[in-house]
Amino acid sequence: MRHLLSTLDLDADAATELLDTAAKLKATLLGREVRKLPTLRGRTVVTMFYESSTRTRVSFEVAGKWMSADVINVSAGGSSVGKGESLRDTALTLAAAGADCVVVRHPASGAAQRLAHWLSDNGTAVVNAGDGMHEHPTQALLDAATLRERLGELAGRRVGIVGDVLHSRVARSNVHLLRTLGAEVVLVAPPTLLPAGVDDWNVPVSYELDPELPALDAVMMLRVQAERMHGGFFPSAREYSIAYGLNEARLRMLPEHAVVLHPGPMLRGMEIASAVADSPRAAITQQVSNGVHVRMAVLYHLLAAGAEETRTKETV
Ligand code: NCD
Repeated sequence: MRHLLSTLDLDADAATELLDTAAKLKATLLGREVRKLPTLRGRTVVTMFYESSTRTRVSFEVAGKWMSADVINVSAGGSSVGKGESLRDTALTLAAAGADCVVVRHPASGAAQRLAHWLSDNGTAVVNAGDGMHEHPTQALLDAATLRERLGELAGRRVGIVGDVLHSRVARSNVHLLRTLGAEVVLVAPPTLLPAGVDDWNVPVSYELDPELPALDAVMMLRVQAERMHGGFFPSAREYSIAYGLNEARLRMLPEHAVVLHPGPMLRGMEIASAVADSPRAAITQQVSNGVHVRMAVLYHLLAAGAEETRTKETV
């Protein structure tokens, strides 16, 4: 694996290997007072966030630090981007300064792909931490890790992805990965919040949440992404919440074992009621913890696993 740009790049074996590595790292660190492995000593990871983030940026930083990498955070505001430098020049500068891996979040769909292209000669790995409305592969991996912990293997499980599918990179990455892992996906959204080409995704689509709930093993609620909306996509927040919000009555319609996921940040009272978000059925903080281990696994496979193979070949 040279980069992680899209969950479409992962076949079932590659995805399972990453999830297994994440689970092993989690077990290794569990209960340890000092959470520090030497794995990435001497490696430099630069996070480059052009869009706001709490969970993703922090968990990449924690992941790198727990494996002893040097982690440097660059934000668009405090860098030369504010002086008009292009994404390409910024990336080449970071590579020249010694970055082994660039973790990028950018409002433009396809930005991570471009970056990987520009950095292809430098040997710098690129991880897509969310590019516009396109993909967010590590989020889908941490969601899968959480579902595996709660439900066991994902093959044959049915997952509902509910809400603003149109603007959601989380939905896209999850649709690909869940299907690769053998799960069934159903998208639930008002017609205005579904992408034009949704038929090509070959997943069932429903405009109504209630009839779907009893058959779901997990429900993934999406944030309504107001920052990407120009115009009215639904009549009012109240009407959206009545039709698509996961409230306590709807929680009771799910099977006993069903898991509630949300990538965060949550809009409590809009797509999810507070009582549901805080219930033991919700795995929202577990998702965040798993995010650290999944990102450790990704950095490990990009920066250390290959090097170990090369070392083994050299010594043989
Ligand atoms: C998501 C994102 O940024 O795409 N958040 C995250 O990374 N946990 C979802 C969102 O912003 O709604």
